[in-house]
Amino acid sequence: MATGSTKRRVRAPNQKARTAARAAARYDLDNLERHEIVALVSLTRRAYRVPARPGTLVTRVIEDERSVQSDLAQGVTIMVARTHGSRPRLLGAVRLVEDRGALFFSRLAVVPSARGRGLGAALVGAAESSARAWGLDEVRCDVALGKDLIGFYERLGYEVEHEYLGPGGLAKAQLVKRL
Ligand SMILES: CC(C)(COP(=O)(O)OP(=O)(O)OC[C@H]1O[C@@H](n2cnc3c(N)ncnc32)[C@H](O)[C@@H]1OP(=O)(O)O)[C@@H](O)C(=O)NCCC(=O)NCCS
Repeated sequence: MATGSTKRRVRAPNQKARTAARAAARYDLDNLERHEIVALVSLTRRAYRVPARPGTLVTRVIEDERSVQSDLAQGVTIMVARTHGSRPRLLGAVRLVEDRGALFFSRLAVVPSARGRGLGAALVGAAESSARAWGLDEVRCDVALGKDLIGFYERLGYEVEHEYLGPGGLAKAQLVKRL
């Protein structure tokens, strides 16, 4: 008996870069403004929610207005992707910090309704542009193993540098890209 198979379209890296460039042009990628903090908290919750278990977040993403304000006060840069127009909506975000001579990005998030159109890749590209602007030639991020997400980053030029056990024994990898 034939079994159903899921075919996934695999895009070539240069096509992926073009898709990301189109996404970058379609949205406004810029630093978070203070009045957008509530929208950011909502975006993160929607992005990290487990679809089958609406009350559960994918990883231990504990975020509220106070924690975002605290991150900003500690020098974390939060970049967001907004729609253009008179009433912009937040569709994606990523956090950037400088760590030991490299730019480290985390909490990459795109709302479910805007996925698969290059916005995630565009936000990673914006993180890399920030690294260059900050005079850094290395970009790093952590990813949980076993979620296939490593393929997403590898197509953007990232390599696994090392694997480790994170909080709660979660298997993770640190990825790096030299610019
Ligand atoms: C990961 C994420 C930011 C990607 O955003 P996006 O706008 O859909 O990304 P793009 O459109 O640029 O790229 C989509 C590609 O990533 C792949 N991808 C996205 N999420 C994936 C996942 N969880 N597992 C495997 N592949 C994934 C898609 O299959 C697609 O591949 P393709 O280009 O070969 O078709 C988004 O899915 C998200 O917010 N996920 C929840 C939060 C999260 O896990 N963040 C990353 C923490 S390290």
